[in-house]
Amino acid sequence: MSEFNVAVVGATGAVGREMVKILEERGFPIKDLVLLASKRSAGETIFYKKKELTVHELNDKSFEDIDIALFSAGSAVSRKYIPIVAKNNTIVIDNSSAFRMNSHVPLIVPEVNSHDIKKHNGIIANPNCSTIQMVVALKPILDEVGINRIIVSTYQSVSGTGKDAINELTEQSSQILNNKKPTRKVYPHQIAFNILPHIDVFEDNGFTKEEMKLIHETKKIFGNNKIKITATAARVPVFYGHSESVYIETQKYISINKLKNIYLKTKGIKLVDDIDNSKYPLAIMSETYDEVMVGRLRKDLTEPNGINMWIVANNLRKGAALNAVQIAELLV
Ligand code: A2P
Repeated sequence: MSEFNVAVVGATGAVGREMVKILEERGFPIKDLVLLASKRSAGETIFYKKKELTVHELNDKSFEDIDIALFSAGSAVSRKYIPIVAKNNTIVIDNSSAFRMNSHVPLIVPEVNSHDIKKHNGIIANPNCSTIQMVVALKPILDEVGINRIIVSTYQSVSGTGKDAINELTEQSSQILNNKKPTRKVYPHQIAFNILPHIDVFEDNGFTKEEMKLIHETKKIFGNNKIKITATAARVPVFYGHSESVYIETQKYISINKLKNIYLKTKGIKLVDDIDNSKYPLAIMSETYDEVMVGRLRKDLTEPNGINMWIVANNLRKGAALNAVQIAELLV
């Protein structure tokens, strides 16, 4: 099999470190792995296949011999460097939101719309973490009976914001438990022992950008503009794993038993739904399982085609790094 030169941009970040781990875990065919970050962390080392690789400062020349570049250093870095990179023969998989809604850039979740990858012109976008887990869980229902409406509320962990937010939750928790005043840098309010109904910036329509990402990206990935979607995104004091309460209205009736049987056969989904034994998806389980976990499946009491469910996944892995590496696997 051919081997590829791969770069990870943002290699020292919460998602970048997972990318390096997952490339190794899945045995991605790598000739040279180049780790890039800002000047702040140039010279640091990261283990890959038991070897210490040095992190280099990102610059215009970083991509000269690179076949595949995985970007996870935020939208500003993506906007600045990806147009330069895409002029080489390098294929970029971008985890930021910079190019996701560009009509020439496919937005890919391999379990859902791998066929769209053919349309790429050098850039492929990795969707938002909360979108990925929701579309993986809803795709089998969409295929079986169609979906008219989605109402989603998210409970998103701080690792989705990045390493500084992980530190902020740790420090604030310790400060509060030691009767000290919590200090704050990353979030507009204390996150420890609190819930913030505010992720990313507010838009003119009163929704946050995170909520609008869920709406627009879901329609793009499903290739369906007609689905009615509304979203509320909240940040919760959890380190890893995003949880979602999702209500859907299907076009045709489907029983919960049939849906469970479909989920049991669907790759990439783990059905955790045994309420008699208090078994349902938990954020902490996302540190063990890479699948999108689905549970609390129940029929709505007022709408025969209404279904409620609880969806959990590891936001750094399936929600970001793993999905990006799976896209790279589709390429090779
Ligand atoms: P650094 O560690 O040098 O700041 P996170 O999402 O966890 O906050 O991580 C963001 C990642 O993006 C880190 O690897 C960070 O590197 C990298 N990054 C942030 N800004 C830049 C930049 N201007 N150029 C290159 N890498 C950057």
